[in-house]
Formats: sequence, C-alpha cells, structure tokens
Amino acid sequence: MTIATAIAHPNIALCKYWGKRDRALNLPATPSLSLTLAPYATRTTVNWGAEADEAWLNGKLLDGKEARRVFMNLDLLDPWRPRCVVTSENNFPTAAGLASSSSGFAALVLAASAASGRQRSIEELAVFARRGSGSATRSLYGGWVEWPMGTRADGTDSHGIPLAPQDHWDVRMLVAVLVSGPKGTSSTDGMVHTQQTSPYFPVWTECAPRDVVEARAAVKSRDLEALGAIVERSAMRMHASMMAADPPLCYWRSGTLAAIEAVKSLRASGVGAWYTMDAGPNVKVLTAAADAEKVRAALAAVADRVELLAPGGPARVE
Ligand code: PMV
Repeated sequence: MTIATAIAHPNIALCKYWGKRDRALNLPATPSLSLTLAPYATRTTVNWGAEADEAWLNGKLLDGKEARRVFMNLDLLDPWRPRCVVTSENNFPTAAGLASSSSGFAALVLAASAASGRQRSIEELAVFARRGSGSATRSLYGGWVEWPMGTRADGTDSHGIPLAPQDHWDVRMLVAVLVSGPKGTSSTDGMVHTQQTSPYFPVWTECAPRDVVEARAAVKSRDLEALGAIVERSAMRMHASMMAADPPLCYWRSGTLAAIEAVKSLRASGVGAWYTMDAGPNVKVLTAAADAEKVRAALAAVADRVELLAPGGPARVE
C-alpha cells in the first residue's frame, strides 16, 4: 500500500506527564495515566511516495518547525523513506491544550506505517509516536492507558500500555472551552523551562509516580471519588511546578478559575465531578455518565462552549 488513512482519538492525562528525562528521545520525567476520548479525532492520510514532502493540517500547508516535526517523525520510521504527502484534519481545536498532538502523532505513525507496507507492532508504533509528541504514545490505545518512564537508555520500554478498555467504565469528560486559539507556550517549551528554573520541579517528579500507582488501583476498582482526588492533585501539582518557574509560567485565564469554582460548587451539592487542566486554559471535568448533564449545565454558566466526550477506542487504519 502506498496510501493509507488512520484515525486516532486524543487522550487527556489524569496523572500528568510534565518534564523530560531525555530530550532527544523524548522520554518523560514522570509516569502518566490517561483516558482516550471520542468523538474528538484526528484523521490522517499519508501518501508514501510523492513528488515532494508536504504536510497539510486542517487545509493549511505547514512550514518551518511544524513541518519539520512531522517529517522528522517519518524519518525515524524509515530513514530511506520516499517523499511523502501528509494530510491531516482535526474535528476539534488544534494546539489549544485539547491534546491535538496526541491524536495527531498517533494517527501519523499508524497511517505512515500502513502506507509504507511494513508490519510493525503496536508497541513499536507507540515508541515512534512518543518521539513526535509524548502524549501520542498513549493515543494508540483506547480507554485507560498508562505510560511508564521506562528504564532502558534507548527508551524502547517507555511507551503507552493499555490498562483497561474503552467499555471498562462509563465515565464522561466535559470540556469547558474558554479559549480555542493556539497556546502561547508549547508544552515542550513549558516543560523544559519548568525543569530548568522551577525549584518545585524535583518535588513534582517525586510525587508523580505515587499518583499513578493509586490512580491505577482506582481505575481497576472503578472508584471515581478516589480517582477524582488524584486527578485534581496531579493537575494542580503540575501547574504549581510551572507557576514557580522563573519567569513564572501560567496557562490559566480568569475563566479557568471560574470553571474550577463551578466544579467545586457542584461537588459541594453532591455531584461527583473533578477538574483537570493541561498546557492551556481550558478545563476538563471527569464525572460519571449519569451526572454529565448536571456538569454540562454548571459549566455552561462559565464557558463559551461545553463539549461532552466519552471513552474512545484505539487508533485504527481506515
Ligand atoms: O506530549 P505533549 O508534548 O503534548 O505534552 C503533554 C503535556 C500535558 O498535556 C500537559 C500532560 C499530559 O500528560 O498529556
């Protein structure tokens, strides 16, 4: 096959990855745990053997750093590859802290590998995806996924690992979309800056592994209250580490705090809901499927738009 299309869903980390133990190999300084979410998706077609390298995202030709990131990833898959045309569409805002790079690089490596006609295991693909964007290693899988730091120097044991499938637990993730434009500081720049200048960074990396162990147990036993508490503290500790950087880095906007307060009021009124934020101002809220409408109504009072996501399946070739 010389043309192939793949679809991948983004994932939101419940226990965050923030910091790199190896920048060249893109190895994480913390383990993480995530939930893959639909209907958000990236659909990517790779034409393996074209006249020139070209990468299109949402109808726009990529250049500079963005295009290099795509083609460097294809060079890793095959250093002797032919020229390729990559065409990618997101059905949700790109680079706004909504995990578009996670689905983007997962769909890219899957489509490129299918187009090249070379069989590769899902673990191998997850390692390639990690090199493009760390969180992408988790988007090859559906449902609940872990990404361990790994111990090997070459990073071959640091990739997504499925924890429980999409239908394991009927939860929802609501997104309070406060700002849908691209973020000012990329997650890589934010992580490196935090790692280099924040006195809180070592404490963050020390606490993170324990959160993953506890979150894994909470997912397995479907204990939403236990998981929710871990989700909030992981997000807040990650953001605290960057707010303590020099100069401070803060992705939040006033609406972020308003959404956090809305979630806390919901909880005080007896509705189980827990917030998390990534490298952007938008707030994502974890809740049981049965409570999703109550959460949506509460977030609608503080956000321009509220979107409802449910556990999604693994990345797939179309
Ligand atoms: O993999 P990246 O470069 O998109 O970084 C992801 C960083 C966070 O979204 C903040 C956390 C995470 O684990 O997804």
